[in-house]
Amino acid sequence: MSALFEPFKLKGATLRNRIAVPPMCQYMAVDGMVNDWHHVHYAQIARGGAGLVIVEATAVSPEGRITPGCTGIWNDEQAKAFAPTVAAIKAAGAVPGIQIAHAGRKASAHRPWEGDDHIAEGDARGWQTIAPSPIEFGAHLPKVPRAMTLDDIARVREDFVAAAKRALDAGFEWLELHFAHGYLGQSFFSEHSNQRNDAYGGNLENRSRFLLETLAAVRKVWPEHLPLTARFGVIEYDGRDEQTLAESIELAKGFKREGLDMLGVSVGFSTPAARVPWAPAFLAPLAQKVRRAVGLPVSSAWGIGTPELAERCVASEQLDLVMVGRAHLANPHWPYFAAQELKVERAAWTLPAPYAHWLERYKVG
Ligand SMILES: Cc1cc2nc3c(=O)[nH]c(=O)nc-3n(C[C@H](O)[C@H](O)[C@H](O)COP(=O)(O)O)c2cc1C
Repeated sequence: MSALFEPFKLKGATLRNRIAVPPMCQYMAVDGMVNDWHHVHYAQIARGGAGLVIVEATAVSPEGRITPGCTGIWNDEQAKAFAPTVAAIKAAGAVPGIQIAHAGRKASAHRPWEGDDHIAEGDARGWQTIAPSPIEFGAHLPKVPRAMTLDDIARVREDFVAAAKRALDAGFEWLELHFAHGYLGQSFFSEHSNQRNDAYGGNLENRSRFLLETLAAVRKVWPEHLPLTARFGVIEYDGRDEQTLAESIELAKGFKREGLDMLGVSVGFSTPAARVPWAPAFLAPLAQKVRRAVGLPVSSAWGIGTPELAERCVASEQLDLVMVGRAHLANPHWPYFAAQELKVERAAWTLPAPYAHWLERYKVG
């Protein structure tokens, strides 16, 4: 029996297996609106058999987009445009999730294949970025953000709440808050980006405040029976890792108290000086450490692209869910491929009938 193909239940959501498609920006939206590209992409990936498909980082406000091509959910028209995609994910047997996000000081950038760097000051395609403090990320993202006022902080928190309500109206059944990767939530937590001396900066309690308040406000509008998760970078690889990890565990305990159901364990990406030790599944042991210390289920990604590795991460109780990202871009039917590789019994994997009818009888390759 494969651990990877065991169903997973979280609140009212039941995933057919432990394979999740993590949020992956497509940078193909116009004015935040999803279109045929997104519909085909997500429907195809869901048909491949993953238990959970999380739609890409979707901005809660126009200035929260990473690039002009990022999806948004700051108005009802945008939310409505997601409905067919949500329906297609569900029809394929996956749970439809969405990550809601604000890019903070990393916003207003070119698409990755158009440079990945900040859009130059004065270029009409860009916009004013905001962040806890007027400190630039540096390297390819040199724009100095405007420091958020207390009104800005309250407004962005309410933008997250409004986005959560719209995501629910659009039919999503799993909500992830993007508090990772140096974007706004992470940048409140990190001293690389937060040098405030009010209630939102300084000690751990203050640096955690924006994240905990936002989570608490969203939890009030996101139904109790549906999973609410957050992705957070628990480590920076900046030489201060022991302290960051200890603080992250304290924050995650706070998340749990405020009603979080699962933590997506990731990297902070708050400084270009980080030295990330890239290797297959390098974060999985850390995720397990957080899981044990906090008592929340965890997911993680980064280099878990082979079925054997994914199976091991779940079987060894490092991860409750394995996020398989780029391997899904290469092969939207990755779960089917994994089931073949792991020789999983037929009853434990799914493919739509027009594919399964043929593939059950014929081993490809
Ligand atoms: C094209 C692309 C877009 C991404 N967009 C997001 C995103 O919207 N939100 C997020 O949290 N991570 C994003 N990531 C990170 C992925 O979710 C994932 O963590 C990463 O690809 C590592 O997993 P992998 O090795 O299985 O690909 C993105 C990654 C890629 C390749």
